[in-house]
Amino acid sequence: MITVLDFGGQYAHLIARCVRRLNVYSEIKEAETPASDLTDSHGLILSGGPQSVFDSDSPQGDPDILKLGIPILGICYGMHWIISALGGQVRKQPKREYGHTQVHQTTSDSALLNQCPPSFNVWMSHGDSATILPAGFSVFAKSDHCPYAAVGDEKKKQFGLQFHPEVAHTEHGMQILENFVCQCNAPYWSIGNYLEHIKDQIRQQAGQRKVLMLTSGGVDSTVALTLLNQVLGVDHVQGLLIDNGLMRKNEAAKVMQAITALGINNLMVEDASPIFLDRLANVTDPEEKRRIIGNTFIDVKDQVVQRIIGKDDENNWLLGQGTIYPDTIETGGTKHSAGIKLHHNRSGKVQELIAKGLVIEPLSDLYKDDVRELGETIGLPHEVVWRHPFPGPGLGVRILCASKPELLPDFKINFNPDVKYSILPVRSVGVQGDERTYSHALTLYVGKSCDIPDAFWQIAVQVPNITDSINRVVVCLSHNQPHTLWFTPTFIEPSSISLAREADAIVIATMERYGLYDSVWQFPVVLLPFGVMPGNRSIVLRPVESREAMTANAAKLKREILVTMIEQLLRAPEIDTVFYDLTSKPPATIEWE
Ligand code: XMP
Repeated sequence: MITVLDFGGQYAHLIARCVRRLNVYSEIKEAETPASDLTDSHGLILSGGPQSVFDSDSPQGDPDILKLGIPILGICYGMHWIISALGGQVRKQPKREYGHTQVHQTTSDSALLNQCPPSFNVWMSHGDSATILPAGFSVFAKSDHCPYAAVGDEKKKQFGLQFHPEVAHTEHGMQILENFVCQCNAPYWSIGNYLEHIKDQIRQQAGQRKVLMLTSGGVDSTVALTLLNQVLGVDHVQGLLIDNGLMRKNEAAKVMQAITALGINNLMVEDASPIFLDRLANVTDPEEKRRIIGNTFIDVKDQVVQRIIGKDDENNWLLGQGTIYPDTIETGGTKHSAGIKLHHNRSGKVQELIAKGLVIEPLSDLYKDDVRELGETIGLPHEVVWRHPFPGPGLGVRILCASKPELLPDFKINFNPDVKYSILPVRSVGVQGDERTYSHALTLYVGKSCDIPDAFWQIAVQVPNITDSINRVVVCLSHNQPHTLWFTPTFIEPSSISLAREADAIVIATMERYGLYDSVWQFPVVLLPFGVMPGNRSIVLRPVESREAMTANAAKLKREILVTMIEQLLRAPEIDTVFYDLTSKPPATIEWE
């Protein structure tokens, strides 16, 4: 096993996932974990982090980890900590280096950079740098601003990288991690052989007890439900799907059908839409909506659990959840995603049940792509395994609610005079570093031709970088110039839900018809509270490519698909404007709320 010590960077999960893709099991532990708790590790990777090693409250590792005699790789902050702990020096640099940088190898025989070209592009993000290396260390690569971009002591197998090999933007990053992993002599790991371990754990934890498995129809809970049925048998499992009224068109019925087709006949659906809609009436704040949906979910679940388990001894039942690794470990994500965890897997009663040992989460050590591989291994069909993720609060976070339009920021930019633009009178969520932003979207115009110039994609990268008042750039596909927008007060209620649901169904059906469903990672369709005619609304198309939702790129859809989609969307009642979101994450998030 290779342990990733988390020094607070948002990338600890990315590192652990990369190591698993290299067929070595990897876990995340706190930066301060004592060396005595790491004796079963074959190697350590120290993650990056937002602080400086010399800040008084910065995370500090146990210096004894450097004496364990196993290979160690420090990334960014992790490298600074190793350098300082071994007697070298780290200093704040006058200028912060952020983004793409080219590094040049200074030696041809470094094992860490084996098979990398003499110069390659990497992703840097640092304000401090090593200035004096510890005894025994030498330099393997440098950049124009950083003399120690890759360093190490080959004999002791202790290494440091100033750049991030774990992010997709770093060329040969996987190769570098593989070079490190190869030095660790860790046992081979794969989902196939881990499956037996998961099955054993289910058997041991459940014993003769039954499991009430919470199911959403998404890949995680479907894989967990299937595994529980396979291991414990149908008489020992009860699936429960809570319909919150914010699901996709015919979703509950479709999930039921898909699960039944798998030979699983123990799923029940609880229609709780009235209570959700009642509690959401007149609520506009996005976080408040999330909180209400999360809490109501728990209340409904408690009532149903009481109904099902109540007649029986509570200790004869376990509550099953499809929780995956990033939700289990308090690390990595932004503050925003920390909030997501709280609502769905770790609230109130669930915490109490966990303390009593009454919760079973068979996938809690796995990442989404591990779960998908596992789903394929246990024979689930492609369309179940590769379904796009759908957020727990569903359409509730895809309908932007407001009782009045937002004031527009005072924003002027000197584009080429041919480029027409406007600002949308709503705000949406974005993410910058670990901070959440809440600002406006800039709109550019192409009209129904859907012919998007390359320059617009560049504007989508540049503009959020130069002003705090814009965190997204969209292009209007229904109109070729700005129009007066009529605002309609919008809340979570049957009429707005049905508009958002219909638009989502049109978009997904079009992607399926063109065989493009699998080409994007997720495709949120968002309803905005205004249109060019009074009483009408707008739709935003937000297809993204991603690996794990921590970072994402806007997916570039072909013109003909966009043309077909908008034709159909504009035929739907009360929809008269369509936008296409061009922004990556960061600076925007995948969802608008
Ligand atoms: P963002 O918008 O933060 O989304 O880039 C990242 C991923 O998380 C999903 N998401 C949620 N999932 N409850 C969930 O279960 C939520 O409240 C929630 N908010 C966002 C989102 O769909 C994307 O896949």
